[in-house]
Amino acid sequence: MANEVILLGARASLFCQRYIDEVWKDDRAPLMPLDPYQQANVRFWANFVDNKIYDSATRIWKNKGQAREAAKEEFIESLKLIEGGLGEKAYFGGESFGFNDITLISFACRIYTLEMHGNFSVEKECPKLMAWMKRCKERESVAKALPDPHKVHELVGQLKKMFGL
Ligand SMILES: *[C@@H]1O[C@H](CO)[C@@H](O)[C@H](O)[C@H]1NC(C)=O
Repeated sequence: MANEVILLGARASLFCQRYIDEVWKDDRAPLMPLDPYQQANVRFWANFVDNKIYDSATRIWKNKGQAREAAKEEFIESLKLIEGGLGEKAYFGGESFGFNDITLISFACRIYTLEMHGNFSVEKECPKLMAWMKRCKERESVAKALPDPHKVHELVGQLKKMFGL
């Protein structure tokens, strides 16, 4: 059920989450936490992914030289903030996979192509975040929904050709 959500941008996934929670409200625990403070936290991270992460990530593969280096630094800084939000927890909400995890894992399939373009290692920069990603990918719903990182890399290559980059 969460599969479709993972493929979308983080903000779009907020609308899907609302839909999923309303349609399947009797079958399962809601994706969105009920507590208002936790809801604000979920919205904060969704915006963070949409604004900070997507922006710097795009600039990594679109640019070269200094501009790419600057984008890479921003991207890694943002990932470290996310890693700080995870802390020592197994998932963002604690012990179980929740909405922040869905929002943030949508990004995992792009890591490989960004590493290739930027010549850096997320594993090296943010080992705890990578461990969380692996934990998420062991879940069948996540594994099935996330596109193959090599296919994403190919697609980015095609986009670059299209843009004449
Ligand atoms: C990539 O990074 C490594 C280590 O940080 C460095 O030794 C290497 O020269 C870099 N390669 C390119 C193509 O910039």
